[in-house]
Amino acid sequence: MENTLFLDALAGKNFSGRPPVWLMRQAGRYMPQYRKIREKYQFLEMCKTPEIATEVTLQPVNAFGVDAAILFSDILVIPDALDTGLRFEEGAGPIIDKPVRSSTDIPNLPSHSMKEKLSYVGQAIQLLKKELKIPLIGFAGGPFTVASYMIEGASSKTLRNTKKWMLRDPDSFHRLLRKLTNDTIEYIEMQIDAGVDAIQIFDSWAHVLSHRHFKEFSLTYLKSIANAVKAKDCPSILFCRGSSVFAPQLAEAQPSCIGIDWNADLATVRKIIPNDIALQGNLDPDILYAPKESLVKEVNSTLFTMQHSPNHIFNLGHGIAPDVSPDAVKTLVDTIKNYVP
Ligand code: CP3
Repeated sequence: MENTLFLDALAGKNFSGRPPVWLMRQAGRYMPQYRKIREKYQFLEMCKTPEIATEVTLQPVNAFGVDAAILFSDILVIPDALDTGLRFEEGAGPIIDKPVRSSTDIPNLPSHSMKEKLSYVGQAIQLLKKELKIPLIGFAGGPFTVASYMIEGASSKTLRNTKKWMLRDPDSFHRLLRKLTNDTIEYIEMQIDAGVDAIQIFDSWAHVLSHRHFKEFSLTYLKSIANAVKAKDCPSILFCRGSSVFAPQLAEAQPSCIGIDWNADLATVRKIIPNDIALQGNLDPDILYAPKESLVKEVNSTLFTMQHSPNHIFNLGHGIAPDVSPDAVKTLVDTIKNYVP
């Protein structure tokens, strides 16, 4: 590996003068190179073909020179492996044909080996490790978020069905979360064995939960996953939307790093999170729509806020949108790489 900035920052040992940078959803539709391949294949087909997943993972690495690669895949490969009939409809997002609607559906979920069902991910990781000179991030969804897609069956802004189940029958809701946690841990252990250098958990929808419910229905399971990653000597990053509010609770799971959304001032978060936990973030992804001058100014402000931090990883507060200009992403990465404190 030629560039270890990202791993150095995760270990609290980045003294290079600038943070490493990678971006959530750095591979995807905003890149013309991605759209060209996507014209020929369905999204899930791309995830399931190790050579294509490898090529797409490398696209932003080659185009922008980011300091870490993230495996091209999706958090919904677990529901797919559980035979729920996952499809991606143009403009409608993910659709699950056989949603899990109540406790009676749980016993019908198969107990497949995730290691076998998702072996295509392991194969992509092995191909990538041969190509990459930077660290590779593996990932999975947080059990609460994955459960919510399995319950709603289609995109939902309120997660009404999920919350109704959670509030009316918490015991069986916990059973579903435990099943998904076990499958997720098996899946992540396989990724680590295949060679990923860090694991990020996306509990993207945890922000719909109250403080107490976050602790009970999200954090409990994030803790189990963070412990399993730690037991494999692999660094972990916990991210959720709402992480600027939940950061002190996320710290209880003792991950290597917490990904912070863009609502919070990183310096303020830094003061309340134990020093040995790295922080990742947290530019508003919409700033990529701003004129170049404002974009550079905003990036520099974040860099200045965190300068001399040995454990800050530059990222957005959430993923890149499909209509962002690749030039803006290039400007962002170049601004960080040229930063002189
Ligand atoms: O970051 C990366 O570059 C790695 C790849 C990655 C994807 N999805 C590729 C993808 C990662 C890390 C994810 C995570 C993911 N997937 C999350 C958590 C992060 C977040 O954004 O909150 C969630 C909630 C999903 C579920 C999902 N997958 C949705 C809601 C969608 C539809 C989005 C849309 O705008 O259509 C997807 C599809 C998806 N996942 C695409 C990509 C590149 C677009 C697929 C296409 O080409 O049509």
